[in-house]
Amino acid sequence: MRVETILNNGTEPFTYVSYSNSPLLRKLEVFYEEYDPAEGEEAAADSQIASTYSSKIASAKEAAGGAIPVGDSGAMLLPYEHLIDPDFVESRPLLWQWDEVAEHLGIVRSLKTGYTGRPLWCLYNPATGIRNGTTFSFFATITAAGPNFTGPAHKHVSAAINYILDGSGYSIVDGVRLEWGAGDIMLSAPGWAPHGHATKDDGAVILTIQDHPLHIGMESLIWQEDIKGGPILTLGSEAGFGTNLATVQNKTTA
Ligand SMILES: [Fe+2]
Repeated sequence: MRVETILNNGTEPFTYVSYSNSPLLRKLEVFYEEYDPAEGEEAAADSQIASTYSSKIASAKEAAGGAIPVGDSGAMLLPYEHLIDPDFVESRPLLWQWDEVAEHLGIVRSLKTGYTGRPLWCLYNPATGIRNGTTFSFFATITAAGPNFTGPAHKHVSAAINYILDGSGYSIVDGVRLEWGAGDIMLSAPGWAPHGHATKDDGAVILTIQDHPLHIGMESLIWQEDIKGGPILTLGSEAGFGTNLATVQNKTTA
């Protein structure tokens, strides 16, 4: 429900990767499309109408009061006025400019084989809160792995689409070895398949998209970091895992 304009003001064609929830909405038969959306002054007038209305909302919620406890289990009752005006965090357009992100890649690229986590940064949108997402349904991460980095095999319910931006390597997914290089897209974790990634001599930079936040919202983000008998946990619903980062960093600085 936001107006989006994409303008190529250069002299060459450009390519971009875009996410839309329209396929989901079409499947649910609730897809709504505006052919001539309000922009500029017209859109400002619309938001003026909305803000005039907001005083009515506040007084309705005040009249209704807050949640009231039922029994001693923590169960509560919530008035209807809260259902039609849930607490919200404004979801704003955000930009992770590559030059600024790239400044932070050296620290993860310096991690060596033996590190039990993944050498990456999440492109985090704080509006997503505990879902740790870029949107409320997906996260995007940038992995920067050094030469011949081998990550541990692990499993999770979320699926991972990996777009290799630079370098080369291979992944073992459900026992199948997939060789990849710059420009390739690899699906590395169709739900619960054991998988691990390794780079070759040139290391790799990878954009990964996962439906991790969506699963947190459904309480279905089941994860196993150590597939040789480690615990299986539901992330976002209980305490999760740690890595050996503190030990690895001490070794680097010693
Ligand atoms: Fe994974």
